Amino acid sequence: MLKVSSLESGYGETQVLHGVDMDIRKGSVHALLGRNGVGKSTMLKTLIGQLPVRRGRITFQETDITALPSYAIARHGMAYVPETRDIFGALTVRENLQLASRLAPSEGAWSMQDTLAFFPNLEKRLNNGGHQLSGGEQQMLAIGRALMTDPNILILDEPTEGLAPIIIQQIFEKLLALKARGMTILLVEQNLHFALGLADDISLMSRGEIVWHGTSETLAHDTAAQSRWLGV
Ligand SMILES: Nc1ncnc2c1ncn2[C@@H]1O[C@H](COP(=O)(O)OP(=O)(O)OP(=O)(O)O)[C@@H](O)[C@H]1O
Ligand SMILES: [Mg+2]
Repeated sequence: MLKVSSLESGYGETQVLHGVDMDIRKGSVHALLGRNGVGKSTMLKTLIGQLPVRRGRITFQETDITALPSYAIARHGMAYVPETRDIFGALTVRENLQLASRLAPSEGAWSMQDTLAFFPNLEKRLNNGGHQLSGGEQQMLAIGRALMTDPNILILDEPTEGLAPIIIQQIFEKLLALKARGMTILLVEQNLHFALGLADDISLMSRGEIVWHGTSETLAHDTAAQSRWLGV
């Protein structure tokens, strides 16, 4: 559903991605893993149009989106939750969610009720400001907001970063439930255990290139690849 070939991008003089190939199947969870600074977040920013493509091609649901601006890519159904989560701290949880549904009105989209039923933690916090939420609640709000835009793919950059183990487990179960509903997910993670439990397919990145790809099951048994590319 999302095909990337020979993708190059970077910042100014610095080239970060040196010809990335990836193929994400509809309904699958695909994890992109690698050490710090190898280009994972750069890859996501390039996919969603926040960084221009220098070379290569991105095809999403048979449409060439390589040169599209980020708002047009979002309209094709790519929802992105950045590392920083980017919720509106000065707005309440209710206002954050209302904004999402207003920005992307769509027939099949989740309503606020659907979103609160899925994330009951948020229901108790509806009138709280975004900045009053815990890290886990912020992550749930960010994911909830993304879901309300009726995405065809959900792109998550390190959703577990900085969260306590019990909260990581909650996020894990939510993503597993989304997977069971058929949601396509592209996940960047530092937590190998989390990624292996959730993903069907894995790509390992090093210095802006994909150096290994295969199923989670294969990686779980490939301790050489784990130690070489992830340092575990
Ligand atoms: N805005 C920027 N301007 C210039 N260089 C950048 C910028 N953002 C990232 N870089 C550089 O690009 C390279 C890749 O960074 P990127 O954030 O994509 O890595 P990452 O794999 O997501 O790492 P991490 O695991 O730490 O999140 C790094 O060398 C980084 O210093
Ligand atoms: Mg990153």
